[in-house]
Amino acid sequence: MKLEALPVVKGNHNLADYDHTYETFDWSEVEKNFTWSETGGMNAAYEAIDKHAETARKNKVALYYRDPEREEKYTFKELKELSNKAANILKNKADVVKGDRLFVFMPRTPELYSLILGAIKLGAIVGPLFEAFMEGAVKDRLEDSDAKVIVTTPELLERVPLNELPSLKHVVVVGDSVEAPHIDFLNEMKTASKELEIEWVDKTDGLLLHYTSGSTGKPKGVLHVHQAMVQHYQTGQWVLDLKEDDVYWCTADPGWVTGTVYGIFAPWLSGATNVIVGGRFKPETWYQTIEDFGVTVWYSAPTAFRMLMGAGDELVKQFDTSSLRHVLSVGEPLNPEVVRWGVKVFNNRIHDTWWMTETGAQLICNYPAMEIKPGSMGKPIPGVKAAIVDDQGNELPPYRMGNLAIKKGWPSMMHTIWNNQEKYESYFMPGDWYVSGDSAYMDEEGYFWFQGRIDDVIMTSGERVGPFEVESKLVEHPAIAEAGVIGKPDPVRGEIIKAFVALREGYEPTDELKEEIRTFVKQGLAAHAAPREIDFRDKLPKTRSGKIMRRVLKAWELDLPTGDLSTMED
Ligand code: PRX
Repeated sequence: MKLEALPVVKGNHNLADYDHTYETFDWSEVEKNFTWSETGGMNAAYEAIDKHAETARKNKVALYYRDPEREEKYTFKELKELSNKAANILKNKADVVKGDRLFVFMPRTPELYSLILGAIKLGAIVGPLFEAFMEGAVKDRLEDSDAKVIVTTPELLERVPLNELPSLKHVVVVGDSVEAPHIDFLNEMKTASKELEIEWVDKTDGLLLHYTSGSTGKPKGVLHVHQAMVQHYQTGQWVLDLKEDDVYWCTADPGWVTGTVYGIFAPWLSGATNVIVGGRFKPETWYQTIEDFGVTVWYSAPTAFRMLMGAGDELVKQFDTSSLRHVLSVGEPLNPEVVRWGVKVFNNRIHDTWWMTETGAQLICNYPAMEIKPGSMGKPIPGVKAAIVDDQGNELPPYRMGNLAIKKGWPSMMHTIWNNQEKYESYFMPGDWYVSGDSAYMDEEGYFWFQGRIDDVIMTSGERVGPFEVESKLVEHPAIAEAGVIGKPDPVRGEIIKAFVALREGYEPTDELKEEIRTFVKQGLAAHAAPREIDFRDKLPKTRSGKIMRRVLKAWELDLPTGDLSTMED
């Protein structure tokens, strides 16, 4: 299918001055934008906030914050002071030192951002958790990483199994009526000092620990290190196209890598004004945000764009969105239809970008200085070589489908998988290829086209869900003997989670039981991990070694041929 490309929108774009080829870009050139290239003292939180607080940007708004109850703004100078205070509390009350794992488990508020920055200023490794996580999901992550500190709210504290986490030494609570021995953050903030000695770190010291799902096993801790800031900054320039006057809004929660890398680092390393909105998604609220803050650069996800599209064009017209000059998307395939809708209602092309938790920053993108082919993820950014390879690591010619792979060596690549070197190594193929797990093809002009996941990972509303994690939770339910989980295509959410379950003797397949099972997963894991659809079956297709054959479940669901069944049990 040939789609008409959407031409470059004229303008003085940040990438326009660069040669877009892999061979000619030297990442070390970017280092001169950082203080550490001169002083040797490195810390990503210093570069993001404090550095600007020492220049003419000090009184520039760094953060516009809004939720249904609060409306606040902070300059770079104020954010420096707030994060210094937070750091002092963590240091003096929770003994946080360089290398400690500290998890944040709370809604998006200015306190959350001060705490993340403060912890990083001490050299701690921050593990962000989604608010939607329930006890099991929280425990797995804190346990795997031997976390020392968790920061949470009185409401979410119930979901932290304190007695089952021997490494956890301190609990910082942000809210009212905090009881000892927990640390009362808001109270401590009243007297904490604004002065702080930043902990300088090495390039490969830990910065962020993002847990993410694969198709087997528990979620894995992807470790990112301070040198990733090189690419956070540079993609902020090239891909987000951030400039001094921009008001930037990334809609992602920091529980997701987009919400840290592009919700914290890329914008603030560039000295941009960052908009952060708490509370739930609502089309009206979102359009109002663009209008009220005069958002110029907006980064969101296909599911959100599809829901906005579903809310109708009449609604957009009630708001002034004319401030928008650059719109981007990440997380799932962006439908060509949505790109065309963006041109119609926002007078902007929506720029798809491709990357993963493991890659630490954007790699394949549509940037403002290039033509967009709707439906394509775009081209690799300078300094990154992407290719389609076969299972032996041989590069395939244009239009051949295969593994989307990236040549090792970009600055933000994960440093390791926490406690699991074997898993880390399993990502690489001969030829120094990092293999993404996505299948794709490249056209003759070097544009990449996403085809699907090679494994069984589910992408639902942009959230990455591992089927194994959901299956494990399902079989903990007393009625369930076996469970298999797949992603079922869905026009709005990309995929929804569908579970096939076989019941134990004595249980009846009723609608009440379905509801009970859904609630069980919701309460044990997270709301977004609960199957929207459940089918009862007498038996599930398994290999002789007892592995559920999700491929067969998918074929059942989509009415496709089941393929080779030679390994299936009788
Ligand atoms: O399958 C790809 C999909 O999201 C996966 C990575 O998920 P996660 O680590 O949660 O990170 C999401 C965003 C940083 C990829 O393997 N994905 C991401 N971007 C796109 C995409 N699929 C299609 N098009 C994209 N632009």
